[in-house]
Formats: sequence, C-alpha cells, structure tokens
Amino acid sequence: MNAPTELAKVMASQPHAVLGYKDFSLGSFGFRRDEYFAHISWKTQDGRPMSHTMDIGNFLRALMRDVAWGFFYGWVNFDEVFGTVNHYTSVDLYGGSFNGSMKAAGVDCLENFPSDQIRATFEQMLDDWTNAEFDPFAAPQETGSPYGRKNGYNTAKITRARELAKRCVGLKDDLALRTDERGAPVNRAFADVPQDQPELHPEPGFENEVHAFNLFAFLSRSQVTWNPSFTSVVKYSFMCPTTEEHMLPIIHGNDRVEWFFQMCDEIHWNSADKNTGKPLARLIMKAGDMAAMPAYCRHQGYSPKRSMLLVWENGSPSLVYEIQKGESPEVPVQF
Ligand code: PHB
Ligand code: FE
Repeated sequence: MNAPTELAKVMASQPHAVLGYKDFSLGSFGFRRDEYFAHISWKTQDGRPMSHTMDIGNFLRALMRDVAWGFFYGWVNFDEVFGTVNHYTSVDLYGGSFNGSMKAAGVDCLENFPSDQIRATFEQMLDDWTNAEFDPFAAPQETGSPYGRKNGYNTAKITRARELAKRCVGLKDDLALRTDERGAPVNRAFADVPQDQPELHPEPGFENEVHAFNLFAFLSRSQVTWNPSFTSVVKYSFMCPTTEEHMLPIIHGNDRVEWFFQMCDEIHWNSADKNTGKPLARLIMKAGDMAAMPAYCRHQGYSPKRSMLLVWENGSPSLVYEIQKGESPEVPVQF
C-alpha cells in the first residue's frame, strides 16, 4: 500500500481543518458532517458502538423543521431511524427506537433532554452545517447545493421569524400583507393564481373593523415549502395553509389527530405505524380532497408540483395526555 499523502494524514487527525465543520454531541449521541453526509453515532443498550448515515441535504431540511417548529407535535422522524419526540418541556432523541427491526435487534438508543438543551445544540449544528448557498426551507429546485466543504453561513434564511398579528392581517395598525408591498414574487408554479383582492363594502364607520384578502394570492408568493408558516389561531384550532413541493422533509408521527385539505394540485402520502414504521396506507390526495391522520400513524407527503395544503391542528396542550388516558379518541370518527 502507498504511504498516506499529507492531506490524508491531516484528514485522519484533524478533519475540521480540511472540511471546516464542527462536531456536536448530546448525551451518548455524536454528530459529524462531511461533504455529503451527516454521521450520527450512539451506544446501543448493551454498550456497543452504532452509527447511522443520512444525506446532508435531507438531514438539514429535517433539522430546519425540527428547530423552527419547536419539535412539533409528537414525533419528528428525520428518516426511518433517527429523530425526536416532543414532550413539550423535554425532548427524546432516538436512533432506531421506532424502527421495528432495529428495536428488535437491540441496537437502538433513546435519551431525554431538556428542550432548551437540545434546541441550543440543534440551532448551532444547523448554523454551522448550512453553507451560504443552501436554504433548507426552499424547494430543491430553488436553492443551491448543500454539499461540499464549509463555505460560509446562511443565518438569515435559517432564522426566519414568525410575525404575530393581533387582528385580521391587513387591518390598520396591524401587519401589512407580505405580498406586493414587500416584493415577494409569485412562484413559478402559481403563475395562474388570480391576484385580485376581494371587494369590501363596510358600512360607514366600520372601515377599520371589516377586512378580507385573497389567501391563494398570498400563498402563491410563499418563499418556503413544507412549513405551516401562516396560521390562523382560534382558541386551539390552528389552520395552517402551506405550499408544498418535493417531499415533506420529515416523517411526522402524530400524538393527536391532524387534518389535511388539499387546496390545489396533489400530494401522495405514505402512512405507517408510528411505533414500528410498518406501512399502513397509501393516499393520493387531489384538489378538494380531505383526510385525517389518526394519532397512531406517521406520514410523509410527496408533492410532484408545488401545491397548496391546509393543515388543521388541534393545539390543545392537554390533548396528548387525554389520548394517553383513553379520554380522547385516536381517530377522528368511529364508523
Ligand atoms: C405534517 O407533518 O402533517 C405536515 C408538516 C408540514 C407541512 C405539511 C404537513 O407543511
Ligand atoms: Fe403531520
């Protein structure tokens, strides 16, 4: 065998010096990135070393959602092996624990962390591992490459913040619409979406009380995909219309029932048992279709063309415990 080159020696002893990415750890989990992959390592229940590899683009797209959604409702599976479970003040981090085969083989690991600790590590990892040209919230055709050696940061795109409206968006003294005024262009896939606004005829004196706007025109200008970023909140009823293109970057495992209304085009869903990953159903949703995801499933959607989806969540903080105690149903309707 040839003697190792100088570069190979540096790579072996100091990978950071060559690739430029930091390593991270949480409990017995280790995280490392190279030009193409995220490498996750842990110790199995009987102390053996175990590891898992993910495409770095897929890993960063999933990590972006987990961070931005505050660990979401229930399970955020980055893929069939690795992910998080939200307990709302703490978060489980797991490798293989919800993969039937790995669990049976005893090569899984699950550790619980305070939400603040895992959030801080995930935020740092997302910032360090996302290069200047890659936007993990953008559709794959609308962003640069996630691959290669460390090449700058994209902090602005990974820290997009939610803006809160106090009343109907567009009313005086509240948020302006993020449409023409702010320069967001209509997405290439939504060139046919009418941009006209509804006519308003409030009685004199009620001009500041009555308002309406064109939701489809608003959504047609969304810069991000697979992000319930624009939400109406009425008590615990959260209506989250979103625009979707390519795949949902996570496999979401429910801890409550969740509804989908396909508002245009189509999304194909795979649904599986949330504990094992065993396939349960295949669902082709076309414009106008509605579906409910039961609390015992996980699901991942594929949108061949950018589409509009309304996700309806029950945000009640006690619901997950009511379901665990059998006081609330796991399904939306009993036939
Ligand atoms: C889901 O997990 O149900 C989900 C998440 C984000 C979306 C759409 C659906 O944009
Ligand atoms: Fe979901």
